[in-house]
Order: sequence, then C-alpha cells, then structure tokens
Amino acid sequence: MTNPGLFSRRAVLKLGGLAATALLVRPFGFVQAAEPGVAEKASGLGRVARSKGVFFGAAVQHRLLREEAAYADALRAECNILVAEGATKWKALRPSPDRWDFSGTDEILRFAERNGMAMRGHTLVWHASLPVWAKDAIATGPKAAHGLLEAHIEKLVSRYKGRILSWDVVNEAVLPKDLRLDGLRESPWLQALGPEYIETAFRLAAQADPKAQLVLNDFSMQVDPIKAKMVLDLLRRLKEKDVPVHAVGLQAHLHTRQSFRSLASFCKGVRELGLELLITELDVWERDPPQEIAARDQLVADKVKAFFDVVLPILRPQQILTWGLTDKYTWLANRESNEENPLEREARSLPLDERYGRKPMWTALHAVLSAM
Ligand code: XIL
Repeated sequence: MTNPGLFSRRAVLKLGGLAATALLVRPFGFVQAAEPGVAEKASGLGRVARSKGVFFGAAVQHRLLREEAAYADALRAECNILVAEGATKWKALRPSPDRWDFSGTDEILRFAERNGMAMRGHTLVWHASLPVWAKDAIATGPKAAHGLLEAHIEKLVSRYKGRILSWDVVNEAVLPKDLRLDGLRESPWLQALGPEYIETAFRLAAQADPKAQLVLNDFSMQVDPIKAKMVLDLLRRLKEKDVPVHAVGLQAHLHTRQSFRSLASFCKGVRELGLELLITELDVWERDPPQEIAARDQLVADKVKAFFDVVLPILRPQQILTWGLTDKYTWLANRESNEENPLEREARSLPLDERYGRKPMWTALHAVLSAM
C-alpha cells in the first residue's frame, strides 16, 4: 500500500478495540435492537472491515440518530466510519455570515466516538450547497472569496482536529463539459480565485490539522475516461507542487446499466501517483428495474461485485462508504429524473432494505471486505 502511515492497521485495530468495549458496556441496547439478531450483528460489515485494517461505513442524517433507534442500531452494527450526508456542508453549517451551526456534525461525531467509529468530513469546498449569502460574497471578488475560504477551513478543521480522520477538501472540482483545458469546473470558487483555489484549500486544511487525511473527491471516473484523465492530471499537478493531497475519493454512485470502462485505468493512475483510493459515496441507481424484488436486488448486488472485481486486483480502498445505509433513506428515492419508470422512484440502492434487513448488496460487500 502507498501512504500507509496515516491509517495504519494498528490505528484501525485500536479503533476496533474501542468499538468492542462499547459493545460490551451496552449489551442490553444491542440485544433489544429491532433486527437483525445479535449473532448476525457480530458479523457486521464494519467488523469485517476492521479485521482487514480498512473502514466500512455510511453517510448519516443526524436527525435520525435521535428519532429512530433501529437506524442508530443498524449503523452500530455495520459501520466503523461515518460521514454526515448534509450536516458538514456549507448550507447546514453557515446559516448566515456570522453564525455557525455545528450541531449536526457534533451529534454525528459524538455518536461515532461513543461507538468506536472514525469519521470523515464532507465537504470543505464545493460549488453546491452554498447558502445564497456565501455565493453572493464569493462573487464580489478574490479578496472576499479568499477570506471566506480561509476562515471556513481554519475554523472547521481546527475545531475537529484529531477527531475527523479524513476530509473531502474539494468536492467535484472537475467537469469536462465546462470545456476548460485544465478540466476544472466553472465553480464560484474558480471564478473568484482561479484554479489555485484547490491548492489553497488543501494547504489551509493541512495547516489546521496536519495529521488529517486530505482528499479530492469526485464522481464518474469509473465510466468517463476523459474525466478520469482530467482528475489524474489535476492530482499530478498538485503533487508536483507539493500540495498535501493524500487520497482520491471516488463517489461511486453506480447505475445498473453502467459498464466501468475507465475504472481499471483510473485505479492504475491513482496507484502510480502513490495516492490512496477511497470509495466515498457508493450506491446503485437502478435503470428500468425488473418487477420482482429478488431480481432487482440481485442486479444491484452484481453491479457492486463487478465494480470491486475491477478495483481490488489493482488497489485496496482504505475506506468504503455507502451513501446511506438503508433504502428507507436514500437520496435516490423520488428523484425527478427517475420518472420514466415508477419503480425507480422506490430506489433499492443500499445494503439494507427499508426494514433494515440485509440485502444481496450487503452480502456482496461482505464478500468484498472478506477478500481484502
Ligand atoms: C446529496 C445528499 O444526499 C442530498 O440529500 C442533498 O440534497 C444533496 O446532496 N455527491 C456528493 C454528496 O458529494 O454530497 C451529494 O449528497 C450526492 C452527490
């Protein structure tokens, strides 16, 4: 493995020890959990991940931690790392120029720490999820934009220093269809600060928490060779300038009809750059699913297996996170763009079904982690 220092096997096992303690001190809560049963829980995905020195986890909606015991139990059973689905984004954290709202992130972090899990931070810089006031301020020019970027990263990353293992520093920075030679997206940040906003963000994050793993996160590199190359070229430029970038996050919002034509070459590129690969937002969007549930779920599982069949011979992702854990709460449900086939609206995109039962996708992930 490249760059093993940050999250050595020992560090993961240590977290695992904490988790084991947490299990022992609260046996009752566990026994009373809705489903699955205790014996099943003992073999959750997080535990398998831990035994392999890697992380498995999911994106979390903090409100549900309080509101639904089965939700919290399922996370405890399956995860050794968490990330906030929305709570660490600008829109949630920065309601107005002079107010910060850390409550959602704090709540998830407390839950993670109490249960011996690690946490990822998502995301410091992104074109989306910016409150209107911030978009307006960025658009006033480089001075204001730089000031905002600096204050945001300094305050947020130092607040969680040593507690958030891994930060998505820049999210979705590359977009071939914006037709720039450097592949970069015409984001408000780029428009105000030029392409340097990316390295500035990484350097600020490294200053605020020198031990955090710093990640460039993006989507579709498994299917889009042009984008895959643009992301690798960007990473190469950053490394040449000694920018502290440690890993690349492949979101992996897969589609059932996708063939992963650029996945192998992308993984090889990441390996050649000496970077870690993280799978940060895995789920499977069904295109025209069959009527029968068992057949649907099998197609989703097969996609996940096919994806890792390409990745694993090339490198071993140090973290695998699904974007949600249960079909009950997935951003892919009821999407406007899913309208052609009503079945797509009840997305079955995640490892657990809406009653927290394990699906074939769970079994596929279990096999993937076991083989790592
Ligand atoms: C999504 C959330 O899941 C939604 O609830 C929200 O409305 C929009 O953002 N790529 C990312 C994630 O990096 O932050 C996105 O999350 C999904 C796509």
